[in-house]
Amino acid sequence: MIEENRRTAGEDWWSTDIIEMSPGIIRYHGYAIEDLIGKVGFPEMIWLMLRGDLPSAAQASLLSTVLMSSIDHGPQAPSIAIARIASTCGVGINNAMASAANVLGDVHGGAGEQCVALYNAIQARCEAGEDITSATHTELAKLKESGVRYIPGFGHRFHPKDPRAPKLMEVLRATADDSINTHFADIAEEVERQISQGRSRAIPMNVDGATGAIYAALGFPPALCRGLFVLSRSVGIMSHAWEQMQRPERNKGPLPRTETWTYTGHAPRSVEQEGGQP
Ligand SMILES: CC(C)(COP(=O)(O)OP(=O)(O)OC[C@H]1O[C@@H](n2cnc3c(N)ncnc32)[C@H](O)[C@@H]1OP(=O)(O)O)[C@@H](O)C(=O)NCCC(=O)NCCS
Repeated sequence: MIEENRRTAGEDWWSTDIIEMSPGIIRYHGYAIEDLIGKVGFPEMIWLMLRGDLPSAAQASLLSTVLMSSIDHGPQAPSIAIARIASTCGVGINNAMASAANVLGDVHGGAGEQCVALYNAIQARCEAGEDITSATHTELAKLKESGVRYIPGFGHRFHPKDPRAPKLMEVLRATADDSINTHFADIAEEVERQISQGRSRAIPMNVDGATGAIYAALGFPPALCRGLFVLSRSVGIMSHAWEQMQRPERNKGPLPRTETWTYTGHAPRSVEQEGGQP
């Protein structure tokens, strides 16, 4: 009886549709691990874990493309620089990776989440019969009214034109599968066109804007787009952390030792002059 109660208490504590396990049995969404091994690759497995079914060949291929495209952006990217800096502090690879992943947010790497929400809102208007120009205009105006100055997924500090974006739009459009809504490529480009209008320099679609269009086309909800970006960038983070761990540099800061920052505080003063307490 006590044994039975223990078992029930355990079963009532957590419940999940994802994994079923008992001695000698591991099943993901109903598929036995020994059936999946050797037949299903990493992107297919990610899809299965998040969506509950195996993807079509086109869905798996597009997910694989989008994951590989945002892996690394060099030590110019705060996440990568942080992975390297952390490694020079002598911490383990998991600490370096976690430090780096923790800065992926609304401004760096995590903009895909809000970007997909924007694309979905434009798409909903188009499905209701509005044309893409007016649907995009209305949703951009709503964002502006709510105080958003930077449209998520657009603008780049380094690239006047992000080379990843047009190629990703090309791959999205070339994917022929009824389950993939390629209209999101048109939406992303329309947003880029409208926010760049009347400016001397265009505001380019960045990797979050481009991968966001693909995640939206694949039907991933906004919050998962950020999670998938983190998953992809984690590969770059791990590579840089690993490379740096094998180098002799120790305790390396964000600036060369000869460089300092701009001091903007109080002019030099003494405690006696001010008459204050030390
Ligand atoms: C990436 C980002 C931080 C780059 O910013 P930045 O290099 O400081 O860009 P600047 O502030 O110099 O922008 C230059 C001009 O373009 C405008 N601009 C830049 N990004 C913009 C965007 N996403 N939406 C609207 N306008 C934008 C700025 O308002 C500025 O206009 P102004 O000259 O009239 O003042 C910024 O574009 C941004 O926050 N984008 C949204 C978040 C995002 O997608 N992040 C992922 C980056 S990979």
